[in-house]
Amino acid sequence: MRFCTDPNALPIALCGSLSLHPVSTGARMHNAAYDALGLPFAYVPFAMTPERLPDALVCMRALGIRGFGISMPFKVQILPLLDELDPTAARIGAVNTVVNEQGRLIGHNCDWIGAVRALEEVLGTGGIRGRKVVLVGAGGAARAVAFGLVQSGAELTIVNRTESKARKLAQDTGAHAFGDLAAIDEVRQADVLVQATPVGMKAHAAETIVPKHLLREGLCVMDIVYDPPDTPLLQVAREQGARTINGLRMLLHQAARQFELYTGKPAPLEVMHAALAENGS
Ligand code: ATR
Repeated sequence: MRFCTDPNALPIALCGSLSLHPVSTGARMHNAAYDALGLPFAYVPFAMTPERLPDALVCMRALGIRGFGISMPFKVQILPLLDELDPTAARIGAVNTVVNEQGRLIGHNCDWIGAVRALEEVLGTGGIRGRKVVLVGAGGAARAVAFGLVQSGAELTIVNRTESKARKLAQDTGAHAFGDLAAIDEVRQADVLVQATPVGMKAHAAETIVPKHLLREGLCVMDIVYDPPDTPLLQVAREQGARTINGLRMLLHQAARQFELYTGKPAPLEVMHAALAENGS
């Protein structure tokens, strides 16, 4: 529980998250950042159900709650309940952040920004432009990443177990090419590989999609799975000499973008990173 000890700091701007099962990672990162900058903000994770989502947004307006992070399955359900969408969130067709601008609820998608910034940390700002990128997956998570990559100028190939979904996502984003899992061979010509399926999560521990022989020095490999952060794919990629980026960097950068939207200030990235790395509840 957070208490405001400075009466001059009132009223506290409240932010939070809406998810089926509240997790503490967002609260840790955001509250640590508010504390570091001395901002009168607080962040609370709320449990939500699809039935209650409309009421939650009524409360958000009525109580002046500043912002909510939105998890699955609410990222698409929330669209018709908002007053306005950021143009990229509208194109993606999913919202992971709602900002209350004087009673108007604006939907944003920070997931794609998280992925792009995590890659740019390694490739340099603007470093995605012109790169050959292979994206594995065509589900909800891959969709935001695909839009971010194409928007940033990548020459994108989308590879997915179900080819029709890869085709649809390639059409929607303007990606260069698509294919089923056999097209994973495109990694030979690629600069970057982004793994955006749940394979690598604890439940999928034994499975791999990308064969070892395709992983090599000169390739940059990002896995959006963050639990565990060091997936089997990343371990093998490192052994093969590739540069790797784990899913926590994307999570961190999307939270940093949320922080910027809520507070209007640059995010203290190192503070948020330290809070994310904490192994607490
Ligand atoms: P999310 O919202 O997390 O992206 P999703 O929308 O269910 O979840 O999408 C999961 C993605 O991972 C899909 O691209 C899925 O492939 P299909 O479209 O063929 O279902 C992919 N995926 C899940 N398990 C997989 C596995 N064992 N091997 C290959 N791809 C897998």
